Amino acid sequence: MNVLVTGGMGYIGSHTCVELTNIGHNPIIIDNLSNSKPEVQDKIEKITGKRPVFYEGDVADKSLLNKIFTDNKIEAVIHFAGYKAVGESVEKPLMYYRNNIGNTVALCEVMTEFNCKNIIFSSSATVYGAPKSVPINEDFELHCTNPYGRTKYMIEEILRDLYISDNTWNITLLRYFNPIGAHDSGLIGEDPQGIPNNLMPYIMKVALGELPCLNVFGNDYNTHDGTGVRDYIHVVDLAKGHIKALENLNGMSVYNLGTGTGYSVLDLVKAFEKENNIKVPYEIKGRRPGDIDSCFANPDKALKELGWKAELNVEQMCSSVWKYAQNYINKK
Ligand code: NAD
Ligand code: UD1
Repeated sequence: MNVLVTGGMGYIGSHTCVELTNIGHNPIIIDNLSNSKPEVQDKIEKITGKRPVFYEGDVADKSLLNKIFTDNKIEAVIHFAGYKAVGESVEKPLMYYRNNIGNTVALCEVMTEFNCKNIIFSSSATVYGAPKSVPINEDFELHCTNPYGRTKYMIEEILRDLYISDNTWNITLLRYFNPIGAHDSGLIGEDPQGIPNNLMPYIMKVALGELPCLNVFGNDYNTHDGTGVRDYIHVVDLAKGHIKALENLNGMSVYNLGTGTGYSVLDLVKAFEKENNIKVPYEIKGRRPGDIDSCFANPDKALKELGWKAELNVEQMCSSVWKYAQNYINKK
């Protein structure tokens, strides 16, 4: 199958291109490299033995999309392209609304013109806001607390409206929990620019000695050790979830992609230290505004309907990040 992967040079997109290629599909990437590097194309080729087709450009550029759909018989789209930093979205909401929502509308318009009506969209557990309880089911009420989250919520609604208007579309919304980890080749992973906002990239930079210590945001949450609990999922498992979603596209669906198990900040720090035999110094600081105690998925629907479940454990998440981090230092 020829699958257009928007944002395919990015963290989750690149791992998904590897999995697509491994089972014989052809990923065709469009990415404007706003948060990724061109060498990812070489790395995907190195891992899979097959060079993915790559178009550098913006998903909002309909003339480029027209060219891609004309040059390639695209059968389905996996739509990752978008901005994802919560703090930045609070400072620059219009940039987030334009990029995330504008590009999705342009993409769906061109898909309609070319009668390609199969799409998988990268949503996020952020759409659940502060959930009333955990684990979180797909039918929980949605509450967004920042512009980034609202772009995800609004895109979900836009896609639902599109489906209502034309039920020959097949639309799957995947709500990711906290993707971490890297490919076991050590060639691709998350490569944050500047000071990371998210926990695992921060741990990685502390372990590398690029940052002095981890700030643990709060130890007075209602959790087993007082630090925030999240559902960390290995990016390779997440990528495989997209393959299952592609194989099971059928009308309008929504799935949580998580492991169903929560780990606290300190659990993750300890697992990283133990697995990689390296110290990660940390200091307890105040809570980060907007954070919640616990967030983890009920992943049963994805198991039941897609036959997917996460298989890699937290130790594998930690060791793969460290392997990738060391490749990354060697390259510098
Ligand atoms: P990423 O930034 O690594 O990848 C996104 C890619 O899209 C980048 O390569 C970037 O250059 C590209 N891009 C952005 N805007 C574009 C545009 N207008 N046109 C073309 N390319 C564009 O992010 P990621 O972590 O791989 O996330 C992928 C998707 O999953 C995003 O939509 C994100 O919101 C969503 N998501 C991510 C997480 C996470 O923790 N990483 C969690 C939930 C949801
Ligand atoms: C963040 C995003 C969320 C996104 C998700 C995807 C915010 C507020 N939310 O969620 O929209 O869908 O990533 O992965 O950014 N922590 C520290 N020190 C740090 C960084 C984080 O203690 O330097 C703690 C946090 O307080 C939290 C946990 O680690 O308890 C995980 O944080 P993070 O990786 O940023 O993910 P989320 O907050 O779950």
